[in-house]
Amino acid sequence: METVVSGIRSTGMLHLGNYFGAVKNFIKMQHDYNCFFFIADYHSLTTHPASADLHANVKQVLVEYLACGIDPGKSTIYIQSDLPETAELYLLLNMNAYTGELERSVTFKEKVKAQPDNVNAGLLTYPVLMAADILIHRAVKVPVGKDQQQHLEMARTFANRFNRMYKIELFPESFAFNFGTDLVKVPGLDGSGKMGKSEGEGNAIFLADSPDVIRKKVMRAVTDAGPTQPNQKKPEAIENIFSIMKLVSPDQTFRHFDDTYNNCTIRYGDMKKQLAEDIIAFTAPLREKILELSSDEKYIHRVATEGAAKARESARKTMSEARKAIGFLSF
Ligand code: TYM
Repeated sequence: METVVSGIRSTGMLHLGNYFGAVKNFIKMQHDYNCFFFIADYHSLTTHPASADLHANVKQVLVEYLACGIDPGKSTIYIQSDLPETAELYLLLNMNAYTGELERSVTFKEKVKAQPDNVNAGLLTYPVLMAADILIHRAVKVPVGKDQQQHLEMARTFANRFNRMYKIELFPESFAFNFGTDLVKVPGLDGSGKMGKSEGEGNAIFLADSPDVIRKKVMRAVTDAGPTQPNQKKPEAIENIFSIMKLVSPDQTFRHFDDTYNNCTIRYGDMKKQLAEDIIAFTAPLREKILELSSDEKYIHRVATEGAAKARESARKTMSEARKAIGFLSF
C-alpha cells in the first residue's frame, strides 16, 4: 500500500480552500492508502503565535479533521510536535539545502513581503521542514492545493540529494496529488488571489462560520457592473465567485447563472444569495459536527495519543536508517 502524508498549519480554522484543496482528498485517500495526516504546529511558529493560543489552534484543526470525516481508525492523525523525529530529520536535511535555492521559493518571497520585520530562518527553511514531514514516513503521494507544488519539487530535490550523498535508496520521490486532473486553487471573496487564513477580513469562508457570517461575507464579495456583451470573458472577481459556486452548488445552478452571465441578464445579488445558501448547506453538517466534537476532550485525547504512537513507530524506522547511512553508529 502506498504511503500518503499531508498536513495543515495550525494557524486557525479550516476554510473552503483547505477543504477543497486538501481535506477532500484526505477523506477519499484513506480507504486505499497508508495515510498520515498531521497538524503542522512547528510550521505555525514562523509567525510567533502566543503560547496561550497555540494549543487551542491545534485542537481546532484536529477537531475539524475529524468532523470532515478523517477516520482515526483508517488514517494516522497526529500533531507534528508529537513527532520529534521530524525535527531531527529537518536538521539533517538542512545540511544540504542551499540558501540560494531556499531564497528562490515563491512562498519565501511572499512572506518576506508580508512580514518584513520577521524574516526568520524558520521561514527560509520552511520547505525543508515540509520535506522532513513527508520523508519521515517515506510518502509517495502528498494531497495538497496548488500553492504547495513548488514545495513538493523541493522535497524531491532534498530526497534525491540525500540518497546520492549517502549512496542509499532511502527516500522515494513524492508528488503532489489530487483526485481531479489538476491541483486546486480556491479563490478568495475579495476579488483576487486565493482563499487564505492570513488574507484580508472576509476573504475566507471557514467551515465553522455561522450561516449569518457566511451570508454577510458572500454578499460583500467583490463584483462589478455586469457584462455588457454576450459571452464576454469574466473578470477575475466574477470568475472567482463562479469558481466557488462550481465547488458547492449543483451543476444546474452553476449553469443557470453562467447562462444568465452569457446573455447579460445576470443579477449578482441573486447569484450571491444562492451561493451563500449553497455554502451553508455544504458547511452546516460539518459545523454541527465541529461543535459536537469540540467538547469531547476524552476522544480528542485518545485520537492524538494513538496517532502520535503510530506516527512515531513509522518515523523511528526511517530515522534509524537515516542515522546509520550518515554514520551515526552506536558504540
Ligand atoms: P496550509 O495550512 O496553508 O494549507 C493546508 C492545505 O490547504 C491547501 N490550501 C488551498 N488549496 C486550494 N485553494 C486554496 N485557497 C488553499 N489554501 C490552502 C494547501 O495547499 C494545503 O494543502 N505548508 C503547508 C502545511 C504542511 C504540509 C507539510 C503539507 C506542512 N508540512 C507536508 C503537505 C506535506 C501549509 O502551510 O498549508
